Amino acid sequence: MKSPQFSMLFTLVLTAFFSFSWATLPHQSFLQCLSLRSNDSSISKLIFTRTNSSYGSVLDSTLWNLRFNSTNTPKPLVIVTPTQISHIQATIHCSRKHGLQTRTRSGGHDYEGLSSIAKVPFIIIDLVHFRSVDVDVENRIAWVQSGASLGELYYRIAEKSTKLAFPAAVFHTIGVGGHISGGGFGLLLRKYGLAADNVLDAQFIDVNGRVLDRKSMGEDLFWAIRGGGGGSFGIVLSWKLSLVPVPANVTVFSVTRVLEQNATEVVHRWQYIARDLPDEVYSTVILRGINSTQDGRKTVLAIFSSLFLGTINELLPLMEQRFPELGLTRQNCTEMSYIQSLMVNNGLPNQPLEILLNWTVQNSAA
Ligand SMILES: Cc1cc2nc3c(=O)[nH]c(=O)nc-3n(C[C@H](O)[C@H](O)[C@H](O)COP(=O)(O)OP(=O)(O)OC[C@H]3O[C@@H](n4cnc5c(N)ncnc54)[C@H](O)[C@@H]3O)c2cc1C
Ligand SMILES: *[C@@H]1O[C@H](CO)[C@@H](O)[C@H](O)[C@H]1NC(C)=O
Ligand SMILES: *[C@@H]1O[C@H](CO)[C@@H](O)[C@H](O)[C@H]1NC(C)=O
Ligand SMILES: *[C@@H]1O[C@H](CO)[C@@H](O)[C@H](O)[C@H]1NC(C)=O
Ligand SMILES: *[C@@H]1O[C@H](CO)[C@@H](O)[C@H](O)[C@H]1NC(C)=O
Ligand SMILES: *[C@@H]1O[C@H](CO)[C@@H](O)[C@H](O)[C@H]1NC(C)=O
Ligand SMILES: *[C@@H]1O[C@H](CO)[C@@H](O)[C@H](O)[C@H]1NC(C)=O
Ligand SMILES: *[C@@H]1O[C@H](CO)[C@@H](O)[C@H](O)[C@H]1NC(C)=O
Ligand SMILES: *[C@@H]1O[C@H](CO)[C@@H](O)[C@H](O)[C@H]1NC(C)=O
Repeated sequence: MKSPQFSMLFTLVLTAFFSFSWATLPHQSFLQCLSLRSNDSSISKLIFTRTNSSYGSVLDSTLWNLRFNSTNTPKPLVIVTPTQISHIQATIHCSRKHGLQTRTRSGGHDYEGLSSIAKVPFIIIDLVHFRSVDVDVENRIAWVQSGASLGELYYRIAEKSTKLAFPAAVFHTIGVGGHISGGGFGLLLRKYGLAADNVLDAQFIDVNGRVLDRKSMGEDLFWAIRGGGGGSFGIVLSWKLSLVPVPANVTVFSVTRVLEQNATEVVHRWQYIARDLPDEVYSTVILRGINSTQDGRKTVLAIFSSLFLGTINELLPLMEQRFPELGLTRQNCTEMSYIQSLMVNNGLPNQPLEILLNWTVQNSAA
């Protein structure tokens, strides 16, 4: 005879059993699948589940946007940090087989956290170990793996040549994988276009785990992965990049005007002039409300900054002719190598270049 208590207990046990299996079964089978499929026992060292003590630090390692560092943020069941292509292939295969979504993470800078978050059970494929950069100065190309940062790319190029560069964002901790997938603009934009415009080939893994290059993926897919957005088509393992020439020295300036120094008129002129300047000039204006250093009253500061691919002697007559209202002087300009200009624009003037290799998450800037 079944007492009501018994049947209630039975229901509770049953519920507990099912919720338990719901919560753990998919990723347990996923893990089993991964160890079988990868055919590599050392893969367990590259897998982090919530029971691993380093799970949190691995998850946070490139979770730049602190908005997502909260207990309410959905967390991955598993983080895989592959060291070989076969690990990625096995991860894709097993996650599909067990109904788990994957998120690919390179630099982790995604504004919406798309590389670290999903609203369904998911795993992260973190390309932290895929970060080699091979620079071929003679042929002006570089192969760079997706997990490298832009800083690592820039450092490795500068290490071999001061006269080559890659046109992409200034901010050095951005990942190559997500950045180039979405286009990628920086201060060489006017002269050389987007980062994606300078991609010659790619190594890519599709949803079936096939490793493709430009030829085998075809021009349509190759077009799509250069600007169509990361995470949409598959996983880019590495890019073959065309490097662009820069002069041994470039010129950098930053000139300021407040309202009392005709900032309004100069900004107005700038809007007509900037777009017609030669492509060697990158010119920007930042407007900022400040308290006057003279009398403490509110005013507006206009900061005119520029990167010029040439010397001060070339820049001064050009600006005098095109933009005399700015009143640019020799004292306002500094000549330096291109890589130094990147340091200046990163807010790291006079600091060792090795900082470009450092991408410790440090604040909520992103
Ligand atoms: C502070 C800051 C400054 C920025 N400045 C600029 C700028 O000057 N110019 C500019 O163009 N952009 C700029 N961005 C935007 C930045 O380029 C994008 O957020 C870019 O997607 C970041 O790439 P990631 O690899 O760091 O990001 P992730 O978060 O790792 O990836 C971004 C997206 O791409 C996917 N993805 C990552 N790796 C791969 C891969 N290997 N294969 C396929 N998909 C992948 C991810 O799943 C995610 O959807 C800036 C962002 C920040 C936070
Ligand atoms: C698995 O690894 C062993 C030993 O390294 C190798 O002989 C075998 O071919 C591998 N199998 C697959 C399916 O890759
Ligand atoms: C995480 O824990 C599992 C189970 O204890 C273990 O097999 C695995 O090696 C751990 N992962 C890492 C990276 O230490
Ligand atoms: C995220 O939060 C945890 C716990 O509060 C903290 O230990 C960790 O340092 C935070 N991560 C970052 C990147 O701030
Ligand atoms: C630009 O140079 C002029 C004179 O040479 C100087 O008065 C001015 O302070 C400089 N501006 C900046 C922002 O350095
Ligand atoms: C501002 O413009 C006026 C009128 O053109 C001019 O007389 C003055 O010298 C300018 N001031 C500055 C700081 O350029
Ligand atoms: C400007 O002055 C106001 C009033 O004195 C003060 O509240 C404000 O913090 C100041 N702003 C800046 C940027 O210093
Ligand atoms: C580059 O500029 C620096 C600083 O002005 C100067 O010392 C150096 O000689 C310049 N190099 C070249 C190749 O012009
Ligand atoms: C890397 O950045 C972190 C955070 O800003 C800093 O504490 C550390 O000293 C830096 N390391 C190097 C080698 O610059």
